[in-house]
Amino acid sequence: MPDMIEQIHSRFVRALQGAFGDAVADTDPLIAPAGNLKFGDYQANVAMSLGKRLKRNPREVADEIVANLDKQGLFDDVEVAGPGFINLRLCADAIAGELAVLSGDDHLGIARPAQRQTIVVDYSGPNVAKEMHVGHIRSTIIGDCIARVLAMQGHDVVRQNHLGDWGTQFGMLIEHLLDKEQTFPDVRQLEDYVIQDLETFYRDAKRKFDTDPEFAIRARKRVVALQAGDERTLKLWKMIVDESRTHFSDVYERLNVNLNNGDLKPESAYNDALVDIVNGLADAGLLQESQGARVVFAPGFEDADGHPLPMIVQKSDGGYLYATTDLAAARHRIDERGAARIIYVTDARQSQHFAMVFATLRMVGWAGPHVRLDHVPFGTILGKDNRPFKTRQGGTVKLIDLLDEAEQRAAAIINQKNPDLPDGKREAIAHAVGIGALKYADLSNDRVKDYVFDWDRMLAFDGNTAPYLQNAYVRIRSIFRKAHEQDIDTSAIDASPIVLGNPPERAIALQLLQFPRMVDVVADSLEPHRLCNYLYDLATAYHKFYEACPVLTADNVATRNSRLRLSALAATTLRTGLNLLGIDVNEQM
Ligand code: ARG
Repeated sequence: MPDMIEQIHSRFVRALQGAFGDAVADTDPLIAPAGNLKFGDYQANVAMSLGKRLKRNPREVADEIVANLDKQGLFDDVEVAGPGFINLRLCADAIAGELAVLSGDDHLGIARPAQRQTIVVDYSGPNVAKEMHVGHIRSTIIGDCIARVLAMQGHDVVRQNHLGDWGTQFGMLIEHLLDKEQTFPDVRQLEDYVIQDLETFYRDAKRKFDTDPEFAIRARKRVVALQAGDERTLKLWKMIVDESRTHFSDVYERLNVNLNNGDLKPESAYNDALVDIVNGLADAGLLQESQGARVVFAPGFEDADGHPLPMIVQKSDGGYLYATTDLAAARHRIDERGAARIIYVTDARQSQHFAMVFATLRMVGWAGPHVRLDHVPFGTILGKDNRPFKTRQGGTVKLIDLLDEAEQRAAAIINQKNPDLPDGKREAIAHAVGIGALKYADLSNDRVKDYVFDWDRMLAFDGNTAPYLQNAYVRIRSIFRKAHEQDIDTSAIDASPIVLGNPPERAIALQLLQFPRMVDVVADSLEPHRLCNYLYDLATAYHKFYEACPVLTADNVATRNSRLRLSALAATTLRTGLNLLGIDVNEQM
């Protein structure tokens, strides 16, 4: 479906051609939605750069383009402003016509990609034997949103949860568990240990490892036993992994995140491939020795002193590293899963790691030029003191505690705002609002920046928040409930003409037309906050429309039906957009 921008675009391509001939054959007219609706609906920004290129006054260039522009049926008013902006005001009928097409499309006008791709989104990736804490929430939420957006476009999305379930730390953890079993024969069955215990064990084991040399030796031997597949060691390891996986699943379910057991592909899954990785690098002539370790030097990477920075793939004791596993994982994804693109969502501190992994994959040829590799970095969540977010006691904030508090706070607000809600619904609404607010606060910030965690702000019903958007949806749904109560027939509104008689109606219509493009923008930039801003603008435009344009009490049936149709489309767009963010809506709140 050609969207509005494309229609404007092609008119301008012809105007450019008419004014300047073949010299401008592939010049982009630079069509964009207007920054301010006062000046127009869209604008064309080509005259400034073209003026420079043709060594002519950009305003004159703009005038000439406008003189050659076919306005028939599309533009009401075209004006050159400032240094050479071309402001465009569309005919109401053109907007209405375009919107009618969009509203009849069950994909809301979102274009199918020219080429459907298999895209791996690697996100969440928590570490076994550690409870999920606030540091994991960003990857989980942002990655899930990106996966949803790409799937909505029609790509074949492969979610991968690269669980940290392997490494030397398991030697010490298992050794510690075995010690405990011996010292306290009556200790609960190991199988009964829950994740909180594991976390304590982990801390205790680490302390012992750092202070008790004899334990450290045993722990290292235990790693060897684990790697060699010793039965008792493997059994304990598996128990730890299973316990952790149950915990992660619980968190995903409560967070409404689309990750399940089928998406798990933990680090240990690549163990058997690691020898091949090192051999492959050696065969390609990329492997070097550095202080007993085997490393790869990718050009352009330096340490703080300006020395070439090695990426270690095998330690002197034979052990493999995080990077080795990532090389194996990428190779698997490209060769076995057919990935045309791999997207990694981790915090910004891993940027260099991924840059080196990507460079190595290119050098050795495991990722060909047609495979796109993206690292999607994000900043840190800060407390009100502008330091990394901690509990009042200074500990790490557990994700489960955060989810509990979000729901409790949301419940308190809902109770206060709407005390008459039936009990059964109250809980579901508090869940959607609390979890939604938490996710939205994260997604609505430019992800590369740090942001300050603030309960009051994220749960406010005003401003750029989830509750504000959810409330806009509720407001629209209540119009339809009222219509039903008043026996107003809404069944035929999808077929009734859209009438854009006044500015708020125009504004909401123009905003609705932007949705498909926004989905593409997020898919391309991998920046969810752009979708948040869009939805916020949409909700705000709807709010103004609602204040200015009576719906059920409109002057005549045609106007009423048109407004109902705009309202229905706004509700669908809000719901769909929030769903892409992983946020639920309610009928009431
Ligand atoms: N487990 C890692 C961490 O906690 C994140 C894994 C990210 N994915 C990857 N392929 N390296 O930092």
